[in-house]
Amino acid sequence: MRIEEVKSTTRNQRVSAHSHVRGLGLKEDGTALPSAAGLVGQCQAREAAGYIVDLIRSKKMSGRAVLFAGPPGTGKTAIAMAIAQELGTKVPFCPMVGSEVYSSEVKKTEVLMENFRRAIGLRIREVKEVYEGEVIELTPVHTENPMGGYGKTISEVIIGLKTAKGTKQLKLDPSIYETLQRERVETGDVIYIEANSGAVKRQGRSDAYATEFDLEAEEYVALPKGDVHKKKEVIQDVSLHDLDIANAQPQGGQGALSMMAQLMKPRKTEIT
Ligand SMILES: Nc1ncnc2c1ncn2[C@@H]1O[C@H](COP(=O)(O)OP(=O)(O)O)[C@@H](O)[C@H]1O
Ligand SMILES: [Mg+2]
Repeated sequence: MRIEEVKSTTRNQRVSAHSHVRGLGLKEDGTALPSAAGLVGQCQAREAAGYIVDLIRSKKMSGRAVLFAGPPGTGKTAIAMAIAQELGTKVPFCPMVGSEVYSSEVKKTEVLMENFRRAIGLRIREVKEVYEGEVIELTPVHTENPMGGYGKTISEVIIGLKTAKGTKQLKLDPSIYETLQRERVETGDVIYIEANSGAVKRQGRSDAYATEFDLEAEEYVALPKGDVHKKKEVIQDVSLHDLDIANAQPQGGQGALSMMAQLMKPRKTEIT
């Protein structure tokens, strides 16, 4: 199970000179097809790039670099991008323009460092203890305000979660109720709650409700299988720059990244 919730800080590319490039367009045996994956010709260069891809896949390229040389417009950037695409969608590709580096406000080293850190991706695999299921009940329990006065406070929240295997009722802290409200969770939604942090993630609406309305912008998800309380593997692909941003932001957000940042707090994120 994967979740896509890291707010990536990848920049929008305004110029799409290379949007047609989808890969190197090589055959199984590593020879180049005359025209494939958006590239035409340059067969030798593409075959050479294929070897680089093999080296990277067999983990023999770390710490090494490739230098492309040639006149402008001959496809150096295009092939570099094709290499990144061959390696998968999660591999960061971070093109720079020379003029970006010249700024009167930001130091050149700063710009370069940011780009280097954008270009280094990490895959974080974490096993989390979660409660997952379709919400079948969501009742806040009100009590008299202990401080006196007429207001009422929420002392706890009873939530019922259903999976294909069974149902479970949980008693939650009022602080989790706030995050439930922030995520706009209502009955019929499929959510999961992280056991040790209390972070709530709404995955979508249960597909049992799929024909409720004609016109909707909802995402429908299947009723989760297995038990309500389970261990779930969460895979996140982030760049070092994403972690920098998460560290720079004030704590207290409940996105996965700030979670990550909190986990890594003691060591800070000096992953170099
Ligand atoms: N072999 C190729 N097949 C198709 N398009 C290509 C090929 N090589 C380069 N291009 C396109 O030509 C343009 C210039 O190439 P680019 O990679 O920017 O050159 P360079 O980085 O060497 O200056 C880009 O739009 C690129 O996508
Ligand atoms: Mg170029």
